Amino acid sequence: MKKATAHDFVGEALAGKGIHPEGNASSDHTNGHNGAGAGAGDTARAPSVRFTMDPQSGLTVEIAKKGKTERKWIASPFEILGRVRDPNSEGWARLLRWRDDDGRVHEHTVSDADLHNDVGALCARLASLGLKIVTGPARAYLIRYLNDVKPEARVTIVARTGWHDIEGKRIFVLPGRHQDGNITIIVGGAAASPYEQSGNLQHWQESVAKLIAGHRLPMFGVAAALTSPMLELVHGESGGFNFKGSSSIGKTTLLRASASVWGRADEHGIMRTWRGTANGIEGTAVLFSDTLLALDELGVATAQDVGNIVYSLASGIGKQRAHSATLRTNRSCG
Ligand SMILES: Nc1ncnc2c1ncn2[C@@H]1O[C@H](COP(=O)(O)OP(=O)(O)O)[C@@H](O)[C@H]1O
Ligand SMILES: [Mg+2]
Repeated sequence: MKKATAHDFVGEALAGKGIHPEGNASSDHTNGHNGAGAGAGDTARAPSVRFTMDPQSGLTVEIAKKGKTERKWIASPFEILGRVRDPNSEGWARLLRWRDDDGRVHEHTVSDADLHNDVGALCARLASLGLKIVTGPARAYLIRYLNDVKPEARVTIVARTGWHDIEGKRIFVLPGRHQDGNITIIVGGAAASPYEQSGNLQHWQESVAKLIAGHRLPMFGVAAALTSPMLELVHGESGGFNFKGSSSIGKTTLLRASASVWGRADEHGIMRTWRGTANGIEGTAVLFSDTLLALDELGVATAQDVGNIVYSLASGIGKQRAHSATLRTNRSCG
C-alpha cells in the first residue's frame, strides 16, 4: 500500500527564500572524518571549523583562519545516540553517552534550550558526570558541535514511568533507555532507577511467594504490587492502602515482600518513607507512576506531610501524572 506523505509546507516556504530546510551550518563540521569546503554566503569570511570525533582521543576541532590551521582538543569521546523529543514533538534535546574515568557509562540528555543558555553551567553539569571538557572559551566549540550534528536516530522522552501512547502504540516504560521495536524511549527527570532485577522469577517464587502463601495481608500487598500497572488499563483511579497496628507485627515485612515485586526491598531501592517523600513528592510521583509506591514509617512524619502526600497523589499530581497503588504502613501510637 502506498504510504501517504505529509506536505512539507515549512520546507517549501524556506526553499522559496533560498534556504535549504536542513540549513547550512556556519561551521564546516564532520563527525568522525574530515569533510571538505568552507561554509557559504555570510560565513565565507568566518574561520572554518572542522570537528573530528575520535573514539580514543575524543572531540577535536581544526580552526582555519588566515591560511593557518589550529587544532584544539575539546572533550573526551562521547556518542550522540539520537535526537530527543516528547510525544508532542516539543522539548527537543540530544541523548549523549560516554564513559567516565572508572569506565562507568553515563547517558544524559542535553536540551536544545540549554545550548542557548549558560555554556559554563552546561559544561559543569556534563563534567560532574565524568565527561572531560576543555576549560576556558574553547568549550564553546562543544556547544557548536552539539548544535551542528544531525543524528538520524530519534528518542522519545516521557515525563514519568508507566503507560504512554507513543506513535500509535501503548507502551509501558521504566527509568532507563527502553527499546520497543524501533522506538527508543527515556523517562525525563528520573534519577537513578530504583527498579531492579535480582535472580529470576523462580528464585522470587521460592524466596518470597512461597513464604507469604496463606498469609492474607502480605498476599494482598504483593497482589497490589503486581496489579498496579492494570489500574490505567481499566481506567481506575490511584489509591492506597494503609496497614495499621502495633510495633513488630510485620508491617514493614509485608511492605518489603510487596516491594520485592519491583526491585530491592529497602530504602535504597523501591521503599520510601513518608518523611522523605514529603520533600520530593513530584519526583516520587514521576518515578512510581503506574507502579507501586511503598511508604513506611508513618509514625515519624508530621500530619501536614502526610496530608500533603495523600492530597498530591490522589488529586493534582495523581490525576496529571501518577497512577500508582500506594501501600502504607502506620505505626500505632495509641
Ligand atoms: N531482619 C530480620 N531478622 C529477623 N527478624 C526480623 C527481621 N526484621 C524484622 N524481624 C522481626 O519480624 C517481626 C516484624 O517486624 P516488622 O515487619 O519490622 O514489624 P513492624 O513494621 O510492624 O514494626 C518482628 O518481630 C521483628 O523483630
Ligand atoms: Mg516497621
